[in-house]
Amino acid sequence: MDETEVGAYFDTASSEYTHDQEIDGIDFWPTVDGFIDQRCSAGDRVLEIGCGDGLFLEYVLERTDVSEAYGVDISTAMLPGPEEDVRARYLQASATDLPLPFEPESFDYVVFSDVLHHLVGDSRSHSRCKVQAVLVEARNLLREGGHLIVKDIYHHSPVGPDELTSYAIFYGLKHLTGLASLVDEQATDGLLVSFYTEDELVEMLEQAGTTVVRKEVERMPDASLPRRVLIEESACIRLYAEKNHRGPTVDGG
Ligand SMILES: C[S@@+](CC[C@H](N)C(=O)[O-])C[C@H]1O[C@@H](n2cnc3c(N)ncnc32)[C@H](O)[C@@H]1O
Repeated sequence: MDETEVGAYFDTASSEYTHDQEIDGIDFWPTVDGFIDQRCSAGDRVLEIGCGDGLFLEYVLERTDVSEAYGVDISTAMLPGPEEDVRARYLQASATDLPLPFEPESFDYVVFSDVLHHLVGDSRSHSRCKVQAVLVEARNLLREGGHLIVKDIYHHSPVGPDELTSYAIFYGLKHLTGLASLVDEQATDGLLVSFYTEDELVEMLEQAGTTVVRKEVERMPDASLPRRVLIEESACIRLYAEKNHRGPTVDGG
């Protein structure tokens, strides 16, 4: 599966993902919004990569002092349409088509919300390389003192190395969809995903030349027995990482 196929999947499934909601009715981003709100000042710029319908960016523009927001998504159908009344600027592009079309050191925050696991390659390690290159690029887009914010899902297995569950989901989806849906109830036919453990996410951020300064974890309730056997812990994780002076310790794209 490559990016074109992921984009085609989201073009078809966009109605399941887009939120037909008013900003005033939202209560699911208080923490990311709060992190930005506590630090930002007039003139700050935010970029969300894999922004979907842009609701987060519109929320940040409405609720914080951020002055400008940009959103990039591979799927045109996910992005707000021309008829929609939006304040952020949106463009269709793949996160992995590097370099991204922005000036280096021009953003104060770059946000990835539930998108890193969609940047897939032929193998899990190839997928990880793609994510690593995108994080290095995102770090290059940050001004001094800027932050990368990553929200994603991770699974922890009690029966093997932490990566076991993520490998089972990746290769299950690639070759044996039935297995993948036993492990991950949200596994979707035709959509390959590559999750990372908490340690891997932190390591990738550090190797990209940022320092994780805050971490938030929200455990997700586990349901079925196979899930409980294979997954001890499943959670939504938010990592906040500040650009450091050491720079990346790995190559970019
Ligand atoms: C689960 S949705 C999350 C949307 C939004 N960030 C949120 O939190 O509501 C994943 C999004 O990532 C986008 N996406 C997947 N692969 C991408 C890529 N290679 N480049 C840019 N966007 C991508 C999808 O089109 C989709 O809009």
